[in-house]
Amino acid sequence: MSWIRDLPSRVGERVELRAWLIKKRSSGKIAFLQLRDGSGVVQAVASRGDVAEEAWEAIQQVTQESLVRAAGTVSADSRAPGGVELHLAELTIEHLTSDYPITPKEHGTAFLMEHRHLWLRSSRQRAILAVRNEVCQGIRDFFYERDFVLIDSPILTPAACEGTSTLFATDYFGDAAFLSQSGQLYLEPAAAAFGKVYCFGPTFRAEKSKTRRHLMEFWMVEPEVAFMEFEELGPLAEEFLVYLVSRVLERCGEQLKVLQRDPAKLETVTAPFPRITYRQAIELLQERGNAIEWGDDFGAEHETELARGFDRPLMVTHFPAAIKAFYMEPDPEHPELALALDVIAPEGYGEIIGGSQRIHDHDLLERRIREHDLPREAFQWYLDVRRYGTFPHSGFGMGIERFVAWVTGAKHLRETIPYPRMLYKIYP
Ligand code: 4AD
Ligand code: MG
Repeated sequence: MSWIRDLPSRVGERVELRAWLIKKRSSGKIAFLQLRDGSGVVQAVASRGDVAEEAWEAIQQVTQESLVRAAGTVSADSRAPGGVELHLAELTIEHLTSDYPITPKEHGTAFLMEHRHLWLRSSRQRAILAVRNEVCQGIRDFFYERDFVLIDSPILTPAACEGTSTLFATDYFGDAAFLSQSGQLYLEPAAAAFGKVYCFGPTFRAEKSKTRRHLMEFWMVEPEVAFMEFEELGPLAEEFLVYLVSRVLERCGEQLKVLQRDPAKLETVTAPFPRITYRQAIELLQERGNAIEWGDDFGAEHETELARGFDRPLMVTHFPAAIKAFYMEPDPEHPELALALDVIAPEGYGEIIGGSQRIHDHDLLERRIREHDLPREAFQWYLDVRRYGTFPHSGFGMGIERFVAWVTGAKHLRETIPYPRMLYKIYP
């Protein structure tokens, strides 16, 4: 049995494969079948005179998404995608499909989401998820090559990381537990064990926001580096993004073509990225007529506005501490500001990275925990990192669905994860 992906190296040979029928067209004498086996797509051609009567019958009968077994000769054809065609000698139907719900006509998104398990088979969804696969591998390679150690942070946690309002709670043998919003707090102690660490796993936010940029369950990659101070955090984020974008450009050209994503829009993503402070960002927005005040957090429309005019990600730094998480190190010159960094993607894809230097002074961190009304007992272990050889450290998190949406040009995050979890939607 062969995989379609391997056919270009087998021109002239007879091969056998199993595949699903994407579509077919047929006249009385000749039939064209588009076949997909997961590894690729190939056009199979059958001439009535060249195949047995049963095979010709099967070709007439076969329906969209039926599973077939096909045998034939691989022939070069420069017009075909992949450069080859399969000249059929035999075809049998292994499973005849009837009433496949996703037909070539247009379907509404609600319908497609209900059929997400089948929608995955379509060329656009396959292209997006193949890019996601490349991005995930790129993330692991990037950190591995730079001597980061992977630390798998827990998913069930006793405390909040990114604010208590978006926690999914569950019962843990009579105690409350929460699905992790971020692995960061667990990474910080590991940075004292390994220096450079990262985690990469699913994170959860019960955000009552129904936007194209929010999922309830998303995957976040988070590096954390011992002794790294704020000035070095931007360069790490920049190097990381440049690496991942060029990796997609190098290895996913075929997918970008399917997605009609213009690579020129990504080729500009080189260092250095533009950097502005939060204060400059507010002034810029005000100049452009936005009703926003110093101290307000950015909404999606502000991020889109800020990114306008930049052909690469924009870094915004020095946010008011009041709108950021409790663990962020204050700016020594302006303690009302946090040494925080957000990276905003071009073209309206919004914030893709959030990070900061972390507070390493025990008493200050303890005060912040109190000020944020967080339960001190639940954070004792986190304070311990500041009790035993405390050290400056910094890190960031990137939601990979936001990144994949940007590079693929997907308008909505729901297409960038196999089974999206969205507000009030958990089927299939
Ligand atoms: O800015 P956030 O909340 O930062 C953290 O969680 C830090 N603990 C990370 C760290 O410093 N280690 O989230 C980080 C990123 C965002 O920039 C965004 O890309 C993504 O996670 N994100 C979401 N992606 C999809 N759906 C959501 N609801 C998201 N919320 C955040
Ligand atoms: Mg953020």
